Amino acid sequence: MLGIVFTTLVDMLEEKVSPEFADEVLVEANLDNDGAFTAVGYYPFSDMEKILTVLINKTGQSADELLYGFGEYLFGVLAGAHAEVMTGKMTVLDVLDSLDNDIHVQVRKLYPDADLPTFAVLSRASNVIELEYCSQRNLFKLAEGLIDGAANHLGNKVSHSVEPTDTPHTYIIRVEMESQ
Ligand code: HEM
Repeated sequence: MLGIVFTTLVDMLEEKVSPEFADEVLVEANLDNDGAFTAVGYYPFSDMEKILTVLINKTGQSADELLYGFGEYLFGVLAGAHAEVMTGKMTVLDVLDSLDNDIHVQVRKLYPDADLPTFAVLSRASNVIELEYCSQRNLFKLAEGLIDGAANHLGNKVSHSVEPTDTPHTYIIRVEMESQ
């Protein structure tokens, strides 16, 4: 998993709780690198799972709640660090429509070893999109947080649902714009 994901998580803990809390979490997670992440490094996904386990114990929040909240925060950081990938995207549906064939393609050029999920577009109408999300990591809660983060960023209001499919690691995500 790309370092920017870890550095952003640590920044979020420092900002939303405190630098001392972020340090405590990293110490308790007992990581091989002692929590010394760089944005352009790559680290095992198991490091993220270890940090999440510590956060579940310390905050009483579920993994789903933590991943969702982190996704919301992460979108602002990713879109801020790489504003160019957002060019021409007017609504969150445009962002989702272009993840597989544009945004994540640009991301792969920046970070060749990024382990990106796929978001195949199943259908798109002016106010609703249906995507098939596929990832070995099953991070659909992170995806939901990223979607709401994108909606906040673009000033849209959306509702969304996620349904598992019969295929492992594959989910249908439906996002609808609410009229404003
Ligand atoms: C609503 C918009 C977006 C959604 C739903 C989305 C979804 C995701 C998800 C769910 C992951 C976690 C990996 C996995 O599931 O296996 C991910 C990873 C990532 N995404 Fe996106 N993404 C969005 C927008 C962006 C944008 C705007 C950028 C811009 C730079 C970006 C860059 C990345 C990067 C760098 C990773 C980490 C890859 C790795 O760990 O190796 N994403 N994305």
